[in-house]
Amino acid sequence: MKIIVTKNYDEMSKEAGKIFIDRIKNNPEIILGLATGSTPIGMYKELIKAYENKEIDFSRVRSFNLDEYVGLDENDETSYRYFMNDNLFNHININRENINIPNGKAKDLNAFCKEYDEKLEKAGGIDIQLLGIGEDGHIAFNEPGDFLNVGTNITALTDSTIEVNSRFFNSIDEVPTTAITLGMGGILKSKEIVLLANGEKKAEVIKELLTQDKVTTSLPVSFLLVHPNVTIIVDEEAYSGIAKC
Ligand code: GLP
Repeated sequence: MKIIVTKNYDEMSKEAGKIFIDRIKNNPEIILGLATGSTPIGMYKELIKAYENKEIDFSRVRSFNLDEYVGLDENDETSYRYFMNDNLFNHININRENINIPNGKAKDLNAFCKEYDEKLEKAGGIDIQLLGIGEDGHIAFNEPGDFLNVGTNITALTDSTIEVNSRFFNSIDEVPTTAITLGMGGILKSKEIVLLANGEKKAEVIKELLTQDKVTTSLPVSFLLVHPNVTIIVDEEAYSGIAKC
């Protein structure tokens, strides 16, 4: 596991941007695993800049997003599809047919999960997966618990996640309580993983991840410790728990 500590959020975004730009240049048909949340917004800006400067081309790139709230569609400003359109897809030349995001409005959610995994498998899996991290150690919406799902699944969000994510909604009552998420299998089969974390709020969970030598379902992100190609890019604030050790 490679760890890069940057001065601040902007530098974290630039470092992550460099990696993704390099991989897209080297493989124009790359399959990107993409994430939502406030963390990757700066890195998406780096990709947009590189596209505008004609450094990279998205016309043959394919993408799979990690997750989506159940019940929300792309017209809902709090849906992850809306987020992706707004923060990345509307600004680059990716072919809309090459974008895959879980459908929170699917009539048969379980059948959708199965199809999503089949589509990902048929595509050959994710070449490079971008991840943020929840304060409780979740990745995508794989929440801490007695077990973690391997495949794409419907999951109940923890009270902690509902509370943390309520900042994007008018009130906590509007936060969906369930989501579709890529399972740990889809994430861990990615050829390369880049996890980003910034700010003091992530210091505790980053400390837990980097100081304990064990994998546990109570800290889903800990499963990255056994993946052979992970880069963690954190700013000084998110790294501050380790710096104090
Ligand atoms: C959500 C997403 C995660 C994301 C996390 C952190 O719960 N499902 O994929 O990593 O939020 O969000 P933020 O980047 O806003 O801290």
